[in-house]
Amino acid sequence: MTCHKLAAASFQLLSLVSFLLFLNPDSSIFLEATTIFANSNTADDERSNAACIEEERKALLEFKRDLQDPLLALHYWVGKDCCNWHGIVCNNQTVPLPTSIGNLSNLHNLDLSSNSTSGPLPTSIGNLSNLQNLDLSSNSISGPLPTWIGSLSNLQNLYLSFNSIFGPLPTSIGSLSNLQNLYLFSYSISCPLPTSIGNLSNLQNLYLSSNSISGPLPTSIGNLSNLQSLYLSWNSISGPLPTSIGSLSNLQSLDLSSNSKMNGTIPESIGQLRELEHKYLDCCSWEVFISENHFQNTSRLHTFSLSSEASNSLVFNVSHVWIPIFNLKILYITDSKLMDTAFPMWLRSQKFLNILILQRLGISDIIPDWFWRFSPFLQYMSLSHNQLRGNLPKSVSSTLQNVSMKNNSLVGSLPLWPNVTQLSLASNRFSGPLPLNIGHEMSKLVFLDLSRNYFSGNIPRDWTG
Ligand SMILES: *[C@@H]1O[C@H](CO)[C@@H](O)[C@H](O)[C@H]1NC(C)=O
Ligand SMILES: *[C@@H]1O[C@H](CO)[C@@H](O)[C@H](O)[C@H]1NC(C)=O
Ligand SMILES: *[C@@H]1O[C@H](CO)[C@@H](O)[C@H](O)[C@H]1NC(C)=O
Ligand SMILES: *[C@@H]1O[C@H](CO)[C@@H](O)[C@H](O)[C@H]1NC(C)=O
Ligand SMILES: *[C@@H]1O[C@H](CO)[C@@H](O)[C@H](O)[C@H]1NC(C)=O
Ligand SMILES: *[C@@H]1O[C@H](CO)[C@@H](O)[C@H](O)[C@H]1NC(C)=O
Ligand SMILES: *[C@@H]1O[C@H](CO)[C@@H](O)[C@H](O)[C@H]1NC(C)=O
Ligand SMILES: *[C@@H]1O[C@H](CO)[C@@H](O)[C@H](O)[C@H]1NC(C)=O
Ligand SMILES: *[C@@H]1O[C@H](CO)[C@@H](O)[C@H](O)[C@H]1NC(C)=O
Ligand SMILES: *[C@@H]1O[C@H](CO)[C@@H](O)[C@H](O)[C@H]1NC(C)=O
Ligand SMILES: *[C@@H]1O[C@H](CO)[C@@H](O)[C@H](O)[C@H]1NC(C)=O
Ligand SMILES: *[C@@H]1O[C@H](CO)[C@@H](O)[C@H](O)[C@H]1NC(C)=O
Repeated sequence: MTCHKLAAASFQLLSLVSFLLFLNPDSSIFLEATTIFANSNTADDERSNAACIEEERKALLEFKRDLQDPLLALHYWVGKDCCNWHGIVCNNQTVPLPTSIGNLSNLHNLDLSSNSTSGPLPTSIGNLSNLQNLDLSSNSISGPLPTWIGSLSNLQNLYLSFNSIFGPLPTSIGSLSNLQNLYLFSYSISCPLPTSIGNLSNLQNLYLSSNSISGPLPTSIGNLSNLQSLYLSWNSISGPLPTSIGSLSNLQSLDLSSNSKMNGTIPESIGQLRELEHKYLDCCSWEVFISENHFQNTSRLHTFSLSSEASNSLVFNVSHVWIPIFNLKILYITDSKLMDTAFPMWLRSQKFLNILILQRLGISDIIPDWFWRFSPFLQYMSLSHNQLRGNLPKSVSSTLQNVSMKNNSLVGSLPLWPNVTQLSLASNRFSGPLPLNIGHEMSKLVFLDLSRNYFSGNIPRDWTG
């Protein structure tokens, strides 16, 4: 099935207007287009008088044909002057790529990043069959990624981020068997990823964050055996994570954050990823149990981030006495449930932790004594919105700077922790007088929230100085 929806995402360019070109209420097929930039080769500041560049006009017509739109949604696009076409903005401040570029048949490296280039990708680039590196990042290139991109069979690096490229990744992308790096942060790549993406057997880094990619991830993604980084955050990917993800034996970073339509189970095969260092799964509407098996072989993991938008549906099921094989630096789990609501003892093995966020997990326990000194690197900690009980200790690790224990059931008096700069103890059951010497004892403090507790007495005068 052809994906016709060319998502209109918000571009960084202020002048951009998005609108519906055509909508047939009887059909689910519709074309939503963003304004397309084309160039004017005149110095005329009247847009209607600006003449469009012939090659760009052809490229736009080719795009129109590629759509195979049975309803001729783009029938407006007629006439010589493409600057007058619906949805096209001609811009005389930017420079188009010259057509003659296609004559440089021995070119290996074309780097025109941040070069104020605009308009559709010139077809002539498709003739540069020896091209190995194509970098057109940070320009104003508009329009879809053309099918001919697949003819650049020697391409190793394709950098097109920060342009106005929209529409699907063409199936032909799978022909780029030498491709190692594909960078397309661009805000508007839409439609599901083509199955052919699994053909890119040399691909090492795939950066497609901040687009409008929809649909489920193709199973073929598991064939990218050389993949090291997979960045798909901020898209509209739906459905489950394919089990084949466990075949990406060289994967170091996996980022699926902010794809709120991803749901279903997180396959245990993810635990096979031996090289994985960063795992971001704080994205989705997961409805699953995360078990120790999800971490079976991930000994190199140092960042783990997990949350679910489907409330209370994600259950972290690891045993009280689990000793994980990884040593995390950053741990971020929020809005989930722990199967075992006792304090997670496995944290004690994490002696390299620097940032620890465990919020809204329903932990219902007394904080154990070891917790305040278990990692000599811990700087930021939040255990907010749990049901923690007990007192806070008189002293904590000297590295701790930012502590939030907001909304728990902690009791006792206000602790004086000299090196802490930000402290939130709001919504607990702390009591007793406020210490007079806090300004002296906690001289580095810049933020203190003690609201909704049972402290007594007045706010000491020297607190206000
Ligand atoms: C086009 O260029 C002219 C002068 O060369 C300038 O005055 C005008 O503002 C430009 N218009 C646009 C839309 O860039
Ligand atoms: C590019 O090649 C075409 C013929 O293939 C020729 O007509 C044209 O002059 C060439 N352009 C340049 C800039 O060499
Ligand atoms: C674009 O690249 C050309 C050739 O390297 C250079 O002369 C020109 O200054 C660049 N333009 C911009 C806006 O960077
Ligand atoms: C390559 O150049 C020829 C003319 O020399 C042209 O007909 C053809 O369409 C070009 N192919 C691509 C992929 O640009
Ligand atoms: C991808 O690989 C399959 C199987 O090897 C092949 O049939 C298909 O033509 C390839 N697709 C592309 C776009 O290269
Ligand atoms: C990888 O591709 C082969 C065919 O080339 C296919 O048989 C296999 O199932 C694919 N593996 C995955 C994980 O998609
Ligand atoms: C995932 O979401 C889709 C669309 O909302 C729904 O049809 C499907 O049943 C969900 N899958 C699971 C496993 O919840
Ligand atoms: C994962 O770990 C298990 C047991 O620790 C081991 O048997 C297995 O071979 C490992 N798998 C990989 C892919 O390293
Ligand atoms: C939780 O994990 C334990 C041990 O791995 C397993 O026996 C149990 O079935 C799991 N519970 C659920 C509900 O998945
Ligand atoms: C406090 O935490 C509980 C969960 O322990 C949560 O339900 C409640 O909304 C939180 N209250 C505030 C004010 O955040
Ligand atoms: C505060 O931090 C310094 C180093 O930055 C350290 O020498 C000192 O012992 C710490 N104080 C306490 C009470 O932890
Ligand atoms: C530190 O604490 C403040 C106040 O609680 C919070 O707003 C801020 O985001 C925290 N900074 C870091 C780096 O965690």
